[in-house]
Amino acid sequence: MNHIVKAEISQDIIKAKSLLEEGELVAIPTETVYGLAANALDTYAVLKIFETKNRPHFDPLIVHVSSIEQAKALVEDFPSNAKLLAEKFWPGPLTLLLKKKQIIPDLVTSGLDTVGIRMPSHPLTLELLRTLDFPLAAPSANPFGYISPTSAKHVKAQLGDKINLILDGGESDVGVESTIIDCTQETPVVVRLGGLGVEKIESIIGKVEVNTTSSSKPSAPGLLISHYAPRKPFLLGEIEDLSKQNSEKKVAIISFQGNSSSALHKVLSEEGSLHEAAHNLFKVMRELDESDAQIIIAEPVPNHGLGRAINDRLSRAAAK
Ligand code: TXA
Ligand code: MG
Repeated sequence: MNHIVKAEISQDIIKAKSLLEEGELVAIPTETVYGLAANALDTYAVLKIFETKNRPHFDPLIVHVSSIEQAKALVEDFPSNAKLLAEKFWPGPLTLLLKKKQIIPDLVTSGLDTVGIRMPSHPLTLELLRTLDFPLAAPSANPFGYISPTSAKHVKAQLGDKINLILDGGESDVGVESTIIDCTQETPVVVRLGGLGVEKIESIIGKVEVNTTSSSKPSAPGLLISHYAPRKPFLLGEIEDLSKQNSEKKVAIISFQGNSSSALHKVLSEEGSLHEAAHNLFKVMRELDESDAQIIIAEPVPNHGLGRAINDRLSRAAAK
């Protein structure tokens, strides 16, 4: 079959701006993963995001801004904890949940009274945001439930026939999505582990709660047990044990460090760097999902800093 892949990959910010002003979608690079962006204040534009991603309406979107001032204009209250975190970590891989103002359409927040806001750290996208007079709603630019894209090529492979423009900002540096923290509580609660380690957050505002309880129920937005998932069966555990148990199958392996012995064995970081491992994670998962292996086996990484987010993504990929 002949697919018409219409998406253009370019760095044309002027073109991105005019598409967004017309209520169209544009894929944008960020330091975490690529996003599928639309005018956050335009319900019809936002609706296109849900349609294009095949995303259920109960899963709210993150709103991207270019300054703390712009964020403040979108919320009822910007508590002191949020202020400290934004001043320290923005632009960067941290999303703050805050009480929303009416100006944010209910579709963006799935009817919740909080909105997730972040200032991404990518020069191209920051420049784009600064030229627009509205913020951008943007989920990761992948079909719902699949692995998030960390390059323009990843976006094109999956959404290329549905959108016009993918801004090319190279490979996403961090490689896993932002950490999300609910700042509307007396003690802030991390609801998604991500590109900013919990330790770093606590070094600024003291002890926080971490509640990323998985759920398969719509009432817990975006924390579905099975997410970020490859299509092939994906197993998480001791590589040696799992390899033995599956010796009759063609197996692909993802290990944390060391050296690779074959094309179906991917190492996240030869030297065992969690940053490098996070950067490579989704690309490696995609490559193996597209390989001729029948099954993918992965091991957990050390569970601190970015390692917690990596393990979270691995276990969601492995969940049925
Ligand atoms: O790094 C990122 O955060 C990337 C880039 C593009 O910025 N975006 C991203 O968006 O990962 P998405 O839609 O794939 O994941 C956002 C998650 C969803 O799981 C959603 O449930 C949660 O954020 N979320 C957004 N607003 C929320 C809210 N008001 N309350 C609870 N969860 C919320
Ligand atoms: Mg996503």
